[in-house]
Formats: sequence, C-alpha cells, structure tokens
Amino acid sequence: MHGHPEDQCPQPDAMPVTLTRPLAMPIYPTSVWQCDSLEQAEQMLEGNVAGYVYQRDAHPNAAALASKCCQLHGAQHAVITSSGMAALSAAVLSRLKAGDHVLVSRELYGRSLQLLTEQCSRLGIDHTLFDPCQLESVAASCRSETRLIVVETISNPRLKVANLTSLAKLAHEHGAQLLVDNTFASPVLCRPLELGADLVMESVSKMMNGHSDVMLGLLCSNQSNWQDVTAAVSIWGLASGPFDCWLAARGLATLPLRIARACESAMHISQWLNHQAGIEQVDYPGLENHPQHTLAKQQFHGQFGTVVTFHLKGGRAAAERFIQSTQALPFCPSLGETITTLSHPESTSHRGLSGVQREVLGIGGGTIRLSLGIESTQHITDSLTAGLKTL
Ligand SMILES: Cc1ncc(COP(=O)(O)O)c(C=O)c1O
Repeated sequence: MHGHPEDQCPQPDAMPVTLTRPLAMPIYPTSVWQCDSLEQAEQMLEGNVAGYVYQRDAHPNAAALASKCCQLHGAQHAVITSSGMAALSAAVLSRLKAGDHVLVSRELYGRSLQLLTEQCSRLGIDHTLFDPCQLESVAASCRSETRLIVVETISNPRLKVANLTSLAKLAHEHGAQLLVDNTFASPVLCRPLELGADLVMESVSKMMNGHSDVMLGLLCSNQSNWQDVTAAVSIWGLASGPFDCWLAARGLATLPLRIARACESAMHISQWLNHQAGIEQVDYPGLENHPQHTLAKQQFHGQFGTVVTFHLKGGRAAAERFIQSTQALPFCPSLGETITTLSHPESTSHRGLSGVQREVLGIGGGTIRLSLGIESTQHITDSLTAGLKTL
C-alpha cells in the first residue's frame, strides 16, 4: 500500500553493499526481530540456535555489554538488567523459593535491605541480619534452609570490607551460595568469583557506566544452571534497553582509568579530611586506622575505592550548612560519576531504615558520603574547605 510506513523502512537487501564494518557497536533499537521460518523462530526461542527474536529475552547491545562484563569479572555467564535492583531481584527470583532462609549483611544499600527483608518476607523467604565483619555470627546464623548469603564487597556507606574468601567457604560448608554486591569495588578492585563467590551483582548505573546517564544492573556467575536466571529476567520483566547498554559499554572502556584516578584522589582526600577540624571520623579502607585495612590491602591489590565517608560534628544541621556551601560538589544521591558528588545517607540511600537501624550502622545526621571523580584534588579540597568553614 502506497504511503504505508513499511514502504519507508529500508530493508537490509536494499542497502548498498559494503566490505567494511563499523568500528563502534551499532545500536539496535528494535523490540522484535523478523524470523525466516517457524522452525528458526522456535529454535531461537528455545535457545537451541543463537539469534534474537524479542528484546526482553535478548538483544545485541545487552549481549555485547554482558560479554565485556564477563571478561572483567572472569565470568562464564552474565545478564544485564534494567537496574542494580533488578539484578538483585533476578538473583532472588531465580535462586530462592518460599521456605528458604537468606543471611543478609546488615550493611547493605537501603533498598537492597528492604528487598531482602520486607519483600522476601512477603514471598515466604525468611532472613537473618549479620555483621559482615563478624564471621562467627554468620556461622551461628546458618540454618539447614539457608540458601543464600548476601554481602557488599565494600559496604554502603560505612565502607566496611567483607572477607569474601572466608564468607564463600562458610556459605559452601552450609550448602548455601554467596551473592556479592560489588558496586563500591567494581571489577577493577575485586573479582569476587575468583575468591569463591557464586553470584556477583553490580549497579552498572554507578562506576561501571561512570557518567550518570544510565540505569542498569549486572548479575554474573560461573554456575551451570544459568538459564534459570535468564528466564527470571524475561518472565519478571527485568530486561535492559539497547541505548542504555550501548552507553554503558562506552563507559566501561574507560573504567580502569577512571577508577585509578578516583582511588588516588580518595586516598589523598581521606588523609586531608583526617586533619580538618569539625570532622568526627573519616571512613576509608586505605587509611591505616580503618578496621579492615590489612584485608583491603590483600583483597584489592593496592587500591581502596572511590568513596570516602566522613562524619561531621554537629549532626544534621551541620550537614545541611556544609552541603549548601559546597555547591561545586553537587549533592545527589548516587555515586561513581566523573565529577565528585556528595550524598547524605540519612536522608537518601538509607532513609528507609529505622532510626535504631541507622544508629547500629553508625549513620548519623552528620554522615556525608563523598564519591570521588576525576577532577584535580585542589578543586575538591577548595570546595570542601568552603563547606568546613560553615561548621
Ligand atoms: C551498593 C548498591 N547496590 C545496589 C544499588 C542499586 O542499584 P540501582 O540504583 O542501579 O538499582 C545501589 C544504588 O545506589 C547501591 O549503592
């Protein structure tokens, strides 16, 4: 029919023949793929033949990003999800069922804690919270129904470092699997699968992408029953979009450079903050007085992360004044940007916890989380000085 949109869509056969290939990965913004036969469609949907049919099941931009993530983590399998929370959901929905028990680090990102406690309880999955730095309490909390132990490599926001080798051993001794949220470390500092973890998740929205323009997650593993995970992603609707995956693949190309630079700055700034008046305490695994400094040295091969947390004297009122006067360092509840940003866990990432829970974690009104970018350290200290003058 003349004028029908199909007439305007150039078909591959009608395109000029070319012997060259694009250097940059093309974006495939198609929700569905045209199949040649019933047999072909069926075989691809069954996973017997490689190919794409429907974007929610698989698409080339997610496959390209997943393959880069597999290289970075030394993983055989990876799936890209619509967010870090979707990656955690994929792990829970594919690995747990009603009646199971999960051991949850009490130091997780606030939304992860809510998912693994409130939401899992609704599905009949019980939990026990544990301190990731008290391994005896982990062993004591394991039950015969324990299927999963969940921990962050470097915890948000107090930056405690979990001993992943010991936790993996403990999990396996009790017939459970270890799921590690590696967001604060990134594969540049730590590859948890090599330390015995069974599943690794990342919020790709953070350092992995690095430009605050994408919301994506990663779940990767060396486990053989991976089709349960990809099925959960498709069935529960946790899949990613092509443009986000394309952007994140571009961000990943500079990951080691960005992380190296931000880690250097984080070390410098944590030492500088340690000598400033108005600050009660500085948390950074690179500082010698950090409780897990020795473990961090072994586990991260000389780098200590891109986030520094510090606690202002004067509580929330001091934090409010500080944030108002450090406008050159944007206040936003995320991390892992090329520019340095500030966050206030009490009112953002951990606002879903009760006051008592936050007190146990040591998150107060004066707690500030600084995510280092790649600017000069002079720019950062100048901006922080402006904030500290208001205290
Ligand atoms: C440690 C950690 N894990 C998971 C998430 C969730 O990731 P997303 O925001 O991509 O869903 C976040 C988000 O801040 C996080 O900080």
